[in-house]
Parts: sequence; structure tokens; C-alpha cells
Amino acid sequence: MARPKIALIGAGQIGGTLAHLAAMKELGDVVLFDISEGTPQGKALDLAESGPAEGFDAAISGTQDYSDIAGADVCIVTAGVPRKPGMSRDDLLGINLKVMKSVGEGIRDHAPNAFVICITNPLDAMVWALREFSGLPHEKVCGMAGVLDSARFRHFLSLEFDVSMRDVTAFVLGGHGDTMVPLSRYSTVGGVPLPDLVKMGWTTQEKLDAIIQRTRDGGAEIVGLLKTGSAFYAPATAGIEMAEAYLKDQKRLLPCAAYVDGAFGLNGFYVGVPTIIGKGGVERVVNIQLDKTEQAMFDKSVDAVKGLVEACKGIEPALA
Ligand code: APR
Repeated sequence: MARPKIALIGAGQIGGTLAHLAAMKELGDVVLFDISEGTPQGKALDLAESGPAEGFDAAISGTQDYSDIAGADVCIVTAGVPRKPGMSRDDLLGINLKVMKSVGEGIRDHAPNAFVICITNPLDAMVWALREFSGLPHEKVCGMAGVLDSARFRHFLSLEFDVSMRDVTAFVLGGHGDTMVPLSRYSTVGGVPLPDLVKMGWTTQEKLDAIIQRTRDGGAEIVGLLKTGSAFYAPATAGIEMAEAYLKDQKRLLPCAAYVDGAFGLNGFYVGVPTIIGKGGVERVVNIQLDKTEQAMFDKSVDAVKGLVEACKGIEPALA
């Protein structure tokens, strides 16, 4: 049986890391696409040369030609610009919207059957625009944010409780921005929800609030440290987790930016929600119950994303 084909649109920091992880996990053959002459070819060759020592079987190539992504099973999109210190993800909107147009049309023309995972920011608006430009079915186009935000939350919680990250679960919903909604009630250490751990005296509400804020600022913290780019290891790892769920039909329950039509009070809107990812793409949106405070936070986040979507429509008349 032929190996799956994974097209990585954007061969920058995240794209290169995605290629490395996909090869190491032998998820399939990898094609790196980028407009920057030589970059995808150079990274592909360098990665292929790591194969003999690592012992993976995966063909890795680089291209500037969309026809080389033909027949891709998965496309992961990181094309665009990352933010610099002092910028919010939303500041990237104008530039990256143009990029989504060319990428969406490239996928539409050459890989219309792929499962598409968008990572380019501002995430929720970009995944919506990418879907519009590509015309692919909604369940085959989603965005990576919740897995990353939840991973950051889990990491900070594991430090606070001094337990293995494997025993910490966490849920972050809403838009991938300052209004994201880390859900304490649905986050646990060894199955014990965070509010119970506060009652047990293992941590305090103040400490938990600080961790939630650090999670919201997780991307900016790294931008501030790196100064010349944004996070790439954890975003790539999260993207690969979603791609693997699709390719192996794992039916993983993962938070991702998905098209929500009829759940959470939304009618046809992309935002971060719990989903099941399997061979059908986003097979289900899991409509968990939110309490009043959580729903209010979620609604505020949705409003922030709506503002970005409207801004996209203002810039690109074809989207209106
Ligand atoms: N088509 C294809 N590739 C493009 C295009 C385009 N129209 N425009 C830019 N690129 C490429 C750039 O040449 C660059 O190699 O996208 C790549 C982006 O890589 P980096 O600048 O290293 O950015 P990265 O850190 O990988 O982040 C990419 O993901 O998390 C988000 O905010 C982040 O929007 C940013 C994206």
C-alpha cells in the first residue's frame, strides 16, 4: 500500500519542524511547499540526510510548484508571517489573508481530497478564510490552536502540582487569542477536576488564575523571548497530533478550530471547540455543557473572532 502523502504549505520554522516530526513518526511521505526559492528544497534535503542515522522510511521533497502536492492526504498550512514582539496575532490579518487566498486556491486545484489543518494566525479567521478560498467541505478544514493552548495549560499545571504532564488533562476552547477560554472544570490532575484540587488545598484559586493568564499569554511569552519569530516546536507537535488522528482514524477527542453549526449557540462559525478527529476529518463537535461564566467567556471570544472575520470581508470582497 502506498504511503500517505503529507503536504506542508510553508516551510519555515513550523513547516520544517512538522516535516521532521512527520518523518520521524513515519506518518507518510512529505512535500514541503514554500514561495521562498530553495528553502523547501534545502530543508527537505537536510531532513532526508537525517534519515539514515534515524532510520526512518519517508521520502521528503521541496517545491515551489503546487502540482507537486497533487493527491495529498493531509495539508498543513503554516504559510504566512509570524508575529514580532509587541504584535498581537490579529496584527497579521491583512498579510496572511492574501496568503490564504493563494494557498486555498492551490489546495482546491491540486489536493481537494486532503484533510487541511491551518496553523497560520490569526488562526480562527484564517481557517475560515482558507475554507472559503478552497471550497473544501467544512469537516475537512480545521485549525490547530486548542491542542497547543491545552498543552501549554497542561505544562504549567504539571509544574504547579509537581506531577507528570501525562497525568494532567486540560481543555482550552474559544478563539486562539487573548480571549481564549481555559476550562478549569474540565481540566484534571489524575482525573480530579481543578476546582476540587483548590478545595483540597493542593493549590489556590490565585495560583490557578495566574496559570490561566500565563496560558492565554503563552504565545506572547515565547515571542518575547525569541524576539525574531514565534513558537514552533509545540505548534508543530500539536499539528502532527491532529494529522495522525486523521491518518490513523484514531477518533481522538481534541479541541480544534472547527466549523460549528448548531452547537454552542453558533450557526456556521469557525472557533475552538472539542471535536472528534478520525478518517472523516472533524467527525463530530462535542457539545459540552458550559456554565454561565464559561458561556459568557466563550461568547466574548466568539465576538472577538467575529470582528476578525468581518475585517477579512472588508479586505477581500470575494469573502463578503
Ligand atoms: N505561499 C507559501 N509560503 C509562503 C507564502 C505563500 N504565499 N507566504 C509566505 N510563505 C512562507 C514563508 O516563505 C516562510 O518560509 O511561510 C513561511 C512561514 O515561516 P516562518 O516565517 O518561519 O513562520 P512560522 O514560525 O513557521 O509560523 C507560520 O504559523 O503560528 C503561526 O503566527 C504564525 O502565522 C504564522 C505561521
